[in-house]
Amino acid sequence: KRPAGAPDRELAHPVKKVGVIGAGLMASQFALLFARRLRVPVLITDLDQSRVDKGIDYIYGEVDKMQEKGRLSRDDANQIKALVSGTTDKSLYADCDWVIEAVFEELGVKQQVFAEIEPIISETAILATNTSSLSVEEIGANLANPERLVGFHFFNPVAVMPLIEVVKVETTSDSTLATAMAVAKKLGKSAVITADRPGFVVNRLLAKVMGEAARALDEGTPMPVVERALAPIGLPMGPFELIDLVGWKVAAHVQDTMVAAFPERFYASPNLHALAEIAEPLTKTKLGKVEDLSK
Ligand code: CAA
Repeated sequence: KRPAGAPDRELAHPVKKVGVIGAGLMASQFALLFARRLRVPVLITDLDQSRVDKGIDYIYGEVDKMQEKGRLSRDDANQIKALVSGTTDKSLYADCDWVIEAVFEELGVKQQVFAEIEPIISETAILATNTSSLSVEEIGANLANPERLVGFHFFNPVAVMPLIEVVKVETTSDSTLATAMAVAKKLGKSAVITADRPGFVVNRLLAKVMGEAARALDEGTPMPVVERALAPIGLPMGPFELIDLVGWKVAAHVQDTMVAAFPERFYASPNLHALAEIAEPLTKTKLGKVEDLSK
C-alpha cells in the first residue's frame, strides 16, 4: 500500500550514481549506506582533500568492522569500498542522478553548494538536503529547477536509526518525491513525508526533551541526575548522552531554530551553548562513571 501522500512509485527515477556533498560524520555514514544498499558508485566531496580522506577512512573502517562481525562477506566489503570515492573536483558529479548535501547547517552555505552543483548535474538529477532544521524551500530558493528539490533527513547513527524524514516542498515534483521514497526503501529505511516546517516532526519532539533537560540543568539539577532520572522511562539513551551523540553544536543549533520559530514553546538554554563551546564536553563514559546521584 502506498504511504500517505506518496506519489505513484512508477514515477521514480533509477539512481545509478550518488553524489554526497560534505564528508563529515553524518555524510560519511549515509554515503556508506548508499554504497552498501544501492550498490552504485558514491562520490564524496568536501572543502579540501584532508576532509574527504577522513570521510573515506571512516567508511573503510566501518566496512572493516562489519566484515569482522560477519555482517559482510569479504567480496561485499571490497565491492563497497571500491564503490566509494572522494574528490574535491565537483565536475565529476556530472553523471550523478542523486546528489545529497550534508554541509554546515547554515542557509547561505547550503544555498551556495546547490548553486555550484546545479549547473554541473543533469536536468533530471535530484538535489536532496539532509538539513535537520532549516527550511528546505529556502535552501533551494535559487535553484533553476526547484522540482528536483527534496529534504532527506537521516538520524544518527544512520546505520541503526530506521527512519528518514522526506521533506516535500511546494515545488517538489511527484517524480522527485517518488524517487526519494524509492531510495529510502532501498536503503532499508521507513520514510515519512513531512511538511517543510521548523524541526519537521522528529526534531520538534527531540528539541522538547533536550530543552527541558537543559532547563533542569540551568535550574541547578546536576547533569547525571537528569540523565539517570529519565532512564526508567525507557529511552535508549539519556538526553545528554543523546546530545553528545548528535553533537553539542548541532543540538544547540536545532534548539535555536525551534526557539526562533516558536519562542513560546521551546526553551533557549544558555548552558547548552556554553557547553557546545567546550570540546567534547561529555562522553558516555564520563556520565557512566557518576555513581552517586545525590551529589
Ligand atoms: N555507527 C554504526 N553502528 C552503530 C553506531 C554507530 N555510530 N552506534 C551503534 N551502532 C550499532 C552497533 O554496532 C550495534 O550493532 P550490532 O548489534 O550489529 O553490533 C547496534 O548499533 C547497537 O549498539 P550498542 O549495542 O552498542 O548500543 P545500544 O544498544 O545502546 O544502542 C543506539 C545504541 C542504537 C545508539 C541507541 O542508544 C539509540 O537508539 N539511541 C538513540 C539514538 C537517537 O535517538 N538518534 C536520533 C538522534 S537525532 C538526529 O540524529 C537528527 C538530528 O537532526 C539532530
